[in-house]
Amino acid sequence: MAQNSQVSNHYNSIAREYDLHDNTNQLVATDKFIYGFIQRHGCVPNIIDLGCGTGRSIDWLKLMPHEYYGIDISEGMLEQFKINHPGYRCEKKDIYQPDILSNRGEKTAISLYGSPCYTTLDKFIELTKQLWANFLHVYLLLYGVERNAETFEAQSEMGILKPLVCDSKTLYHLHKEIPTLKWKGIDQFKKKNLTLSVPRYYINIGIDSLTRQVERFAWVMLYK
Ligand SMILES: C[S@@+](CC[C@H](N)C(=O)[O-])C[C@H]1O[C@@H](n2cnc3c(N)ncnc32)[C@H](O)[C@@H]1O
Repeated sequence: MAQNSQVSNHYNSIAREYDLHDNTNQLVATDKFIYGFIQRHGCVPNIIDLGCGTGRSIDWLKLMPHEYYGIDISEGMLEQFKINHPGYRCEKKDIYQPDILSNRGEKTAISLYGSPCYTTLDKFIELTKQLWANFLHVYLLLYGVERNAETFEAQSEMGILKPLVCDSKTLYHLHKEIPTLKWKGIDQFKKKNLTLSVPRYYINIGIDSLTRQVERFAWVMLYK
């Protein structure tokens, strides 16, 4: 699929620099907020990490190797994952492939920092239904409206966002061609999802003065 190779090419190209971003005070503050939120609301091993990237969630959630399974579409990110977390399981897979949620005994599914957003609204809804049906806890962290608002444009009726350029020196400069779901799309999801008999909640982490202070991006957490 063209979009998949765009996404994996993009993340392959930034994989080595990806964790450098981790050291900024801004991201650490956002991480503390997000992982603190997840821990407070419930997060039971075993965990499947959809779009695991370099495996940053392992340290934040203090997971043992047998408690964790990560999948990602980018070989580059997975190489970095293996350097950072030898002994932890990860595989190259597309989270939007139908067989992805075969029962391995995971109780919690996480997909953080925009990992579930590189898709269409319908596929996202389908995945979400499956996650809601199969896992005790689910945390999806989605790109919000305000994320890099001044440099993003061209949203369509479907809530697809085409980032234009990004001012971060190391990250996202190749992001500009990849269609990405963001909050407007998720609002439509909310309407469509009224027909589903699953619990669902929304919190908006990003658009407040605290988060503006710690990070310029805004995020939306969809969680069960
Ligand atoms: C912004 S990074 C977030 C990585 C990690 N979750 C974190 O918190 O640092 C997005 C990740 O999602 C992965 N990704 C995007 N679409 C994917 C898909 N369809 N299947 C698997 N991984 C995907 C990318 O390769 C990338 O590693």
